[in-house]
Amino acid sequence: MTDTNKPLAGKTGLIFGVANKRSIAWAIAQAWHEAGARLIFNYQGERLKENVEELASTFGEEVALAPCDVSRDEELDSFFSFVKTKTDTVDLVLHSVAFAPRDALSNPFSHTTREQFRIALDVSTYSLISMAQYAAPMMTGGGSIVAMTYLGSEKVLPNYNVMGVAKAGLECSARYLAHELGPQGIRVNCISAGPTKTLAGSGIAGFSKMVSHVQEKAPLAWPAQASALGGTGLYLATDASQFVTGQVVYVDGGYQIMGM
Ligand SMILES: NC(=O)c1ccc[n+]([C@@H]2O[C@H](COP(=O)([O-])OP(=O)(O)OC[C@H]3O[C@@H](n4cnc5c(N)ncnc54)[C@H](O)[C@@H]3O)[C@@H](O)[C@H]2O)c1
Repeated sequence: MTDTNKPLAGKTGLIFGVANKRSIAWAIAQAWHEAGARLIFNYQGERLKENVEELASTFGEEVALAPCDVSRDEELDSFFSFVKTKTDTVDLVLHSVAFAPRDALSNPFSHTTREQFRIALDVSTYSLISMAQYAAPMMTGGGSIVAMTYLGSEKVLPNYNVMGVAKAGLECSARYLAHELGPQGIRVNCISAGPTKTLAGSGIAGFSKMVSHVQEKAPLAWPAQASALGGTGLYLATDASQFVTGQVVYVDGGYQIMGM
């Protein structure tokens, strides 16, 4: 029987997207760790290695981390080779990774260049498909893949621009993956977070206005902190969401229901 305090005991999770202590990936990693999961982290380039190492070491266990820029096949390859040195099976994957060139998040949307579009969708969208390609064969006991998305996929949020297109593609990819991987017991869901004060958030022109607008309009007080997302990350990882797949779960204080 599963220990109700440690519903993820014996599970192994891969965490993509910790940059610092404010990262959504770190909030969900903490929730998965507290629930008993053993975690393996990526970091994007040497610049972030120390941050991720320092945070992961607070768990008081052997830290398992390896570099992985998700836009580079050879790094995905070597990341998963590293994972295989640590475990035969994977149960959980968190995709909390996105990037678009800064100008694309402030210039008019119609000025988006082919290269900006390519980069945004490669890093933020295709990466979910490539992660699933590597992880699914290791998820022999089924499991859960969770990806972070934003309302800009379906509504216009000024300046979110090409990231809105990337998130629409991410949510759609999650549905196609959910269909394909469901028979293996692998669930694929997205969490649509309200605007959250992180490094990536601050890259969007007018971000503080997005935060204050949601805080003013949402039915529930939205704290705009990554810690608000750990609980839903945990729900989607455990058997509590056993029959939930292909969904977008809104964790935004209820802002998504509002018309004005
Ligand atoms: N902050 C928000 O308001 C908000 C709202 C909804 C959804 N999200 C999504 O949450 C996820 C996490 O973002 P965050 O807000 O925690 O910011 P963050 O800056 O802490 O995390 C973004 C992560 O993406 C990683 N990344 C970027 N390009 C990469 C690449 N080529 N290879 C590997 N990793 C790469 C960065 O290293 C970083 O760890 C993103 O998908 C973001 O779009 C954020």
